[in-house]
Amino acid sequence: MKKWLPNWRILSLFSVMTLFLAGCGKPFLSTLQPVGEVADMQKSLILLSSAIMILVVVVVSIIFVYVVVKFRQRDGEEERIPKQVEGSHKLEITWTVIPILLLLILAVPTVSYTFQLADVKEMEKEETDALVVNVTAHLYWWEFEYPNQEVVTSQDLYVPTDEKVYFNLKASDVKHSFWIPSAGGKMDTNTDNENKFWLEFDSKRVGQAPEELFYGKCAELCGPSHALMDFKVKTLPRDEFDQWIENMKNAEPTAETELAQAGEEIFEQSCITCHAVSADQKGVAPNLTNFGNRQMVAGHKANTPENLADWLEDPETFKPGNKMTGAYDELKPNEIEALVEYLSGLKVE
Ligand code: CUA
Repeated sequence: MKKWLPNWRILSLFSVMTLFLAGCGKPFLSTLQPVGEVADMQKSLILLSSAIMILVVVVVSIIFVYVVVKFRQRDGEEERIPKQVEGSHKLEITWTVIPILLLLILAVPTVSYTFQLADVKEMEKEETDALVVNVTAHLYWWEFEYPNQEVVTSQDLYVPTDEKVYFNLKASDVKHSFWIPSAGGKMDTNTDNENKFWLEFDSKRVGQAPEELFYGKCAELCGPSHALMDFKVKTLPRDEFDQWIENMKNAEPTAETELAQAGEEIFEQSCITCHAVSADQKGVAPNLTNFGNRQMVAGHKANTPENLADWLEDPETFKPGNKMTGAYDELKPNEIEALVEYLSGLKVE
């Protein structure tokens, strides 16, 4: 008996942890704190299906306990057999009809929402005012192209608030999955077809995130750095968004200090074959036009000179399995310093 005790302790510890840790989470990456129409619809489906499941579990548990207690074998009545109800039409019909009704209650909003969420007619029109973003997932970074504005960026997705934003999703290498938890469910990115859907960001609610910045994730195991394949979503009112597009189009890489100019030279020898620094070009590596504005280096560490230097010096440790490892000759400390200065200055105001 004694030897079971420690197991019970661990079990209760885990139960308590589950209870408390379930409360951990940030509003800008929680499915349960929706910031737009899509996330609202999906949350209401989560609540409805959970309510139905809880109802079924509670009712079945009560009936189970009642039957076990009421019809248990009592001393002196070992031979007594309770009334047999097999083949009872009344009972058979009851427990067939109830699940059908419950499924109908769940099916009506589910089917209706599924059609509404899959409605991408607007983005498929020849001429459309709707904002379309072509998303390409790569090992382990994200490219965002605004085809109608002819702007390309990466890692930080900029979107206007209070309108439908349509996404064309694909992958360049292996299957990934595009997911902004607070804005809506995930959607796979495949190599051989494009998936389409839309999301919406409500200006009244985006304020709950720091600097209107939401977290996006890769939600499909894609390799050693899958968990580091993050992106950020910056939400802006439509006029500020248009301004951002304009700024991106006009952005030119500048190197103001001498150190930055040295960095620019190194960049043009070692980096430019993969990375573009103007917003009209796609590349095999992230577009860096507004790198200095980004919050993160390589998607997962704060964009500080120290972290950027670590990334340039040893990409493999920083983000295992990435495609930058070995793509350039090893850099000397002074070259890294110059590159950091140059890259940090790539800003779009
Ligand atoms: Cu890409 Cu996981």
